[in-house]
Amino acid sequence: MSDQDHENGLPEDPTWPELKLPDLLFTNAVREVHATIENEWDPLQRSACQTAAGRALWKHLIHDPLADLLAGETYLTSLYEKIKKDRINNAREVSGVILAVRTLWFDSKIEALLNSFTMKEAQVVFLGAGMDARAYRLNCLKDSNVFEVDFPKVLQVKASLLQAAMESKDEHQHLKETAKSLTRVAADIRENDWLEKLQISGFMPEKNTIWVLEGILYYLPHSHATQVLKIIAEKCALTHTVLLADFMNKPSTTLSESIFHFYSDWPDHLLPSLGFPHVKLSQIGDPDAHFGLMHDPQNLFNKLRSLPRSVQQHPDDGTPCCRLYLVQASGSPNQTIP
Ligand SMILES: C[S@@+](CC[C@H](N)C(=O)[O-])C[C@H]1O[C@@H](n2cnc3c(N)ncnc32)[C@H](O)[C@@H]1O
Repeated sequence: MSDQDHENGLPEDPTWPELKLPDLLFTNAVREVHATIENEWDPLQRSACQTAAGRALWKHLIHDPLADLLAGETYLTSLYEKIKKDRINNAREVSGVILAVRTLWFDSKIEALLNSFTMKEAQVVFLGAGMDARAYRLNCLKDSNVFEVDFPKVLQVKASLLQAAMESKDEHQHLKETAKSLTRVAADIRENDWLEKLQISGFMPEKNTIWVLEGILYYLPHSHATQVLKIIAEKCALTHTVLLADFMNKPSTTLSESIFHFYSDWPDHLLPSLGFPHVKLSQIGDPDAHFGLMHDPQNLFNKLRSLPRSVQQHPDDGTPCCRLYLVQASGSPNQTIP
C-alpha cells in the first residue's frame, strides 16, 4: 500500500482514516433498527443520526465509542463522502467541524460546571437528546442523575441499538453508564406536559440543574422555543439553574427554511428578558470555542467573528452571515435580573 489514496490522490492522513464500519452495524438486529429509522423517521428525528455521525467521524477529537452504532451506515457514509470531497478541494472548513466544536464546547462546559462547588451533584437534563451518549462517555457525570428527553420513537430505537450492543461481546465494554443514573423520558417538548413527565420520572425541581439544549431550539416554532426557555428560566427562582444551548441567527435558518424555525440574533438580550440574570455568549472560533480547529484567519468562522454581529451579509460577496451562538445562561434564587 502506498502513502497515497490512489482513487483520489489524497495523501494518507491519520486524522481521516478510511471509513471502517463496525461489524455490529451488519448484524440483523441492528440492520433492522436502522431500516426503521430510514422508513419511519422524519428529517427532524433523523437529524439525531446525522449529529452522531459527526461525532463518530471526528473521533480524533471526540471520544464517543457508541456514535458509529447510533448513527448507522447511511449517515456515516454520507458525511464521510462530504469530508473526502472537502479534503480533495482543500476546503478551509471540513464538513462536521461546527459539530465537532459544538460537541467539545458542551462537553467542556458540562465538565467545568460539574467540577465547580455549586453544581457538583447537579442533575443534568438533555432536551432533544437524540443519539447523545454522554451518559456513557463523560466521567464527570458520575454524581449526576441524567435525564434524556426526546420523542418516544427516538428513545425506543436508541434503547434497541444499545441493547444490541450489550448483547454483542465487542461493544459491551463501552456500555457502562458513567452517569450516576440515566432516565429516558418520552415527551414532545412542544406539548405542555413535558415538565410534568420529567418530574414523574424523578426530576427534582428544587435540585441544582444543568439543562442541555444542543441542536434542538432551531427545530422548534418560535412560540414553543420561547416557552421552553421560559419554563427553564422560571427554575432560576427555585434553585441554581444553568442553561447550555446553541442558537442560530436569522440568516442561518435560510439554510433550510422547512426545517429551521426559531432563531435569535441576540440571545444575550433575549435570555435576560426571559428570566436568566447571567448570560455568556460565544461564537465558533472564540477562545472557549476553538479547540485548536480555527487557526486559519481566513476561515469562515474567523471572518465572521471579525464582523459586527449586526451584519447579516458578508460585505465581500453578499452571502448570508450564518452564525451559531453557543450560550451559557444561569440564575439562582438569590439573584435578580440586573
Ligand atoms: C439535531 S438532533 C440533536 C440531538 C442531540 N442533542 C445531539 O446534539 O446529538 C435534534 C433532536 O431533537 C429531537 N427533537 C426535535 N423536536 C423535538 C420535540 N418537539 N420534542 C422532543 N424532542 C425533539 C429530535 O428527535 C432529535 O433527536
